[in-house]
This record gives sequence, C-alpha cells and structure tokens, in this order.
Amino acid sequence: MASGTVVVVGGTRGLGREVAQFYADRGRDVVVTGRDQAVAEECAAEIGGSTRGIGLDLAEPHAIADRLSGTGDVEYLILAAIDRDANSVREYDIDAAMRLVTLKLVGYTEVVHALLPRLADDAAILVFGGLARDRPYPGSTTVTTVNGGVTGLVRTLAIELAPRRVNALHPAIVGDSPQWRDMAPERFEALVQRTPTGRLVTMAQVVDAARFLLENGAMNGIDLAVDGGWLCT
Ligand SMILES: NC(=O)c1ccc[n+]([C@@H]2O[C@H](COP(=O)([O-])OP(=O)(O)OC[C@H]3O[C@@H](n4cnc5c(N)ncnc54)[C@H](OP(=O)(O)O)[C@@H]3O)[C@@H](O)[C@H]2O)c1
Repeated sequence: MASGTVVVVGGTRGLGREVAQFYADRGRDVVVTGRDQAVAEECAAEIGGSTRGIGLDLAEPHAIADRLSGTGDVEYLILAAIDRDANSVREYDIDAAMRLVTLKLVGYTEVVHALLPRLADDAAILVFGGLARDRPYPGSTTVTTVNGGVTGLVRTLAIELAPRRVNALHPAIVGDSPQWRDMAPERFEALVQRTPTGRLVTMAQVVDAARFLLENGAMNGIDLAVDGGWLCT
C-alpha cells in the first residue's frame, strides 16, 4: 500500500470520520479537520494511530492555506464537510446560503489549491455531494444547488489536475449516520419504502464506495450515487 497522507476535511464526525477511521486502522497517516482545533485534536486521538487534527473553517477560505501548511505529501484527499442549511427561495436566508455555498464550493476548492503542491500525479480526490442534487425537497434549495456544483467541480478538477483523479460520491440518506440515525420512525419507514433494496444505505457501504473511487486507478470524473437504487424510482 502507498504511504502518502490521507486528509479528510470534515473528518471529525459522520461519514468523513468513518473514512478516516478505516485508513487509520490500516496504519495510514491520517489528518482529520473540523472547525475547532481542540475538537479536531480530540477526535484524532480517538481515531488513534498517528492521526492528527487540524481546525479550519471552510466558510473562511482565506485562512485555509495557512492551516494546512504543515501537511505532508497527500495521497488521498476526501472533502466531506457540511454545515447544513434549510433554505427555500420563498424564505431565503442569504447568510446561511452564503455560508454553505462558500464552504462547499469555494472552501473545498481552496483546500485543493492549498494542497496541490503536495498532491503527487497518482493522488486521488473524493468530493462528497448528495442526492438532494437530483431529489430536491422543501428547504433543500442551497443543498441542492451546491450538490449540483459538486458535479461541476469534479469535472473541471479532473481536467485541470490531470493525471490526478477526482470523483464525487452522492449518498442517499445514510440511515446509521449521526445526522439521520435518530430520525422519526415514520420518516425512516417512508424512506425504506422508496428504496428498491428495502433498506437504507449504511456508513460502511459509503466507506466501501469511497475506497473504490479513491483506490481504483480507472475511476475519474465520476458522480457515483450510493443509494440502493433510489434514483430508479
Ligand atoms: N449523512 C448522510 O446521510 C448524507 C447524505 C447525503 C450526503 N451527505 C454528504 O456527506 C458528507 C458528510 O455528511 P455527514 O452527515 O457525515 O456530515 P456531519 O456528520 O454533519 O459532519 C460534518 C463535518 O463537517 C465539519 N464542518 C462543518 N462545518 C464546517 C466548516 N464551516 N468548516 C469546516 N468543517 C466543517 C464538521 O466538523 P466540526 O463539527 O468538528 O466543525 C464535521 O466533521 C457531506 O458532504 C454531506 O453533504 C451525507
């Protein structure tokens, strides 16, 4: 196995943390980021191995390069952070929308820009979007638009950064993720009914799909839905 660092932006919780844990458990050098330095360090200690934590706010992109300046050579870069914004065009919260758009589109891009000198030709980048891109719901206006932007980001980065590989992973609602595991039973059941496999996607399945996109040298410029067939309905 190669030896470069695995950097997980948004690795202090949820799906990003699961990916970080997977690679740390296999002896990889891992960096996890969250907004707060102390929380990121605490999380890194919990993950174990040589994991390090860095505090950076993607919604404050000018400070990102400085925060990442101590990072070594990077083999896998996973961009998983999110600060959810319930927003609609009728009751538009401009500040919340600007925060999420900045975080996911400008912040993610600035992380890539800052780490570019440390991304070798065989490095791979994975950007997390989500199926609100294709299946909007009331209140998803900013989430839906930024997840659409993730598709554009992956396509332009795959060209600009070639031969490095860049892919996106778009999960449906991940039933055992911290964000959703306490949802109301009626909602859970309605989601299950709409999913052809009859069960919600799990965090372990998302990690497996993330590994595929990061490690398979043929995967590039792909938007992979991990959804149990939800998009077929
Ligand atoms: N969970 C799902 O079912 C699901 C479904 C579809 C798509 N997704 C996508 O998958 C990715 C991970 O989702 P998740 O549910 O696992 O997330 P999560 O549990 O809510 O964790 C979010 C992560 O982002 C970090 N973060 C939040 N605001 C930040 C900011 N301003 N700057 C830097 N970091 C920030 C958090 O760190 P701190 O709190 O430590 O700051 C945390 O590590 C997201 O891109 C999401 O859109 C998830």
